[in-house]
Amino acid sequence: MDTTSTPDAVAQGHAHGSAPTNADTPASLVVVRHPLVQHKLALLRDRRTPTKIFKELVDEIAMLMAYEATADLALAEVSVETPLERTVGHEVSGKKLTLVPILRAGLGMVEGILRLVPAARVGHIGLYRDHDTLEPVDYYFKVPGDAAERDFFVLDPMLATGGSAASAVTSLKRAGATRIKFLCLVAAPVGVRRLAEAHPDVTIYCASLDRELNPQGYILPGLGDAGDRLFGTR
Ligand code: URA
Repeated sequence: MDTTSTPDAVAQGHAHGSAPTNADTPASLVVVRHPLVQHKLALLRDRRTPTKIFKELVDEIAMLMAYEATADLALAEVSVETPLERTVGHEVSGKKLTLVPILRAGLGMVEGILRLVPAARVGHIGLYRDHDTLEPVDYYFKVPGDAAERDFFVLDPMLATGGSAASAVTSLKRAGATRIKFLCLVAAPVGVRRLAEAHPDVTIYCASLDRELNPQGYILPGLGDAGDRLFGTR
């Protein structure tokens, strides 16, 4: 794997958490360029990184990305009594958060986000990519019943063709969800375009907007098969 090429988003040099300036990238894309995210992403890309460390890095990056993606959560004032006096604090008051990993690689992002938002529920969407057509095949869908009352974070480390991502969001909307964000680690331009065109209301968070897909549907420079590297099935 050529890990020497520079992913577009890093080359653009925009501040962490900001939208890219490239005219081809949609307004709904946020590239999280926090230095710790970029440092951990470089380790994640390295082919020599073993499964245990790969898992820990996905977990940590997901947590840092969730920090950015939760920046607009609604707050309400609460009265707090400190050991010295009564004061006004703030608590998260908006809709309840639900994480929806796309099986199986999305599972690797759940625990890190739950450490930040322990009260979040976890749904699951089972989609796999047909290796010939590269189109998503749907085999499992389970989310909380009160979907309209919830914020959703759809999780998948790799936004490649965008087929699985768009299909997952369509299924969530069919279940009543209206407030959905998509969190991935590495995105391909074609995947971002496809998801943004199908669902312009969904903000897409990634740690890197990479160069392209190869003919087998792998992101370049990418990090290989995220599911295999997470679960040691390579
Ligand atoms: N899924 C992966 O795990 N890696 C890619 O590069 C593309 C899709």
